Amino acid sequence: MATTPRVFTVTSGKGGVGKTNIAVNLACQLAGAGNRVCLLDADFGLANVDVLLGVTPPKDIFHLFQARTRLEDVLYPTAYGFSILPAGSGFNRVTELKTTERLELLHALEPLADRLDYLIVDTAAGAGETVLYFNMAAQERLLVLCPEPTSLADAYALVKTLKVTHGVERFRVCVNMCQNERQGKQIFARLYDACDQFLSGVSLDLAGIIPQDSVVRDAVMKQRPFGSLYPKSEASRAIARLAQNVGKWPAARKAGGNIQFFWKSLLMRNQ
Ligand SMILES: Nc1ncnc2c1ncn2[C@@H]1O[C@H](COP(=O)(O)OP(=O)(O)OP(=O)(O)O)[C@@H](O)[C@H]1O
Ligand SMILES: [Mg+2]
Repeated sequence: MATTPRVFTVTSGKGGVGKTNIAVNLACQLAGAGNRVCLLDADFGLANVDVLLGVTPPKDIFHLFQARTRLEDVLYPTAYGFSILPAGSGFNRVTELKTTERLELLHALEPLADRLDYLIVDTAAGAGETVLYFNMAAQERLLVLCPEPTSLADAYALVKTLKVTHGVERFRVCVNMCQNERQGKQIFARLYDACDQFLSGVSLDLAGIIPQDSVVRDAVMKQRPFGSLYPKSEASRAIARLAQNVGKWPAARKAGGNIQFFWKSLLMRNQ
């Protein structure tokens, strides 16, 4: 049976809310459950996926813009059952891709359509052009925020920008670094109420609540995914629940009923 990759971003308004840790550990969980997973590091200014995994891939996606570099040369397998598409070292890097580069990247990724169950896109924070682009192109967006008021305000700002400028309406929400479940639900409710009041048409679903947990920082220092190092920790159990929820998201379909892979629709839109 032909499969369709689910393509989703892990994104946020405010920086440092835990996107990359969540993306890496979700990739681990989904791969551990038998899925074929690739994690695209789309934070071109501050690429961190390779750092969190303690690897130094020889090539990054910028090599794809050069002749004779194949996708296979850039895809980097990890010890955790998923592959990564690295964004590069961060030195002398631009934070925004040029329009031609965005299209070239999506085109270069096309062969993955038959080989993946999940493509996870770890974006930069904020509402820069490249962040908006990936969020618009993906089937789903996992919006990460934490209990700080600034994080809530910036999450709302990102939802608003995507809705107003690009007509994006569906968001999955993950509240990270919570004291407890109740706090996570309260934060989600605040974002939900603000969107309900001021952004008609936007739908938000609570996908996960991740506790503040010291194992996260510990695992960052060891450059290993916390889910792999400390599988029984609170944070790891929360990631496992989040992964189960992600597994229930429906595959995107076009109005005609055809299954849609994210860049196909985007390339058509840009022609
Ligand atoms: N659940 C958690 N419990 C404790 N600390 C956490 C948790 N999640 C993230 N952190 C801490 O927050 C730091 C930032 O996390 P991470 O790099 O994943 O955020 P980010 O949103 O990707 O940041 P950026 O916007 O810079 O890309 C981590 O180094 C870790 O120390
Ligand atoms: Mg990050």
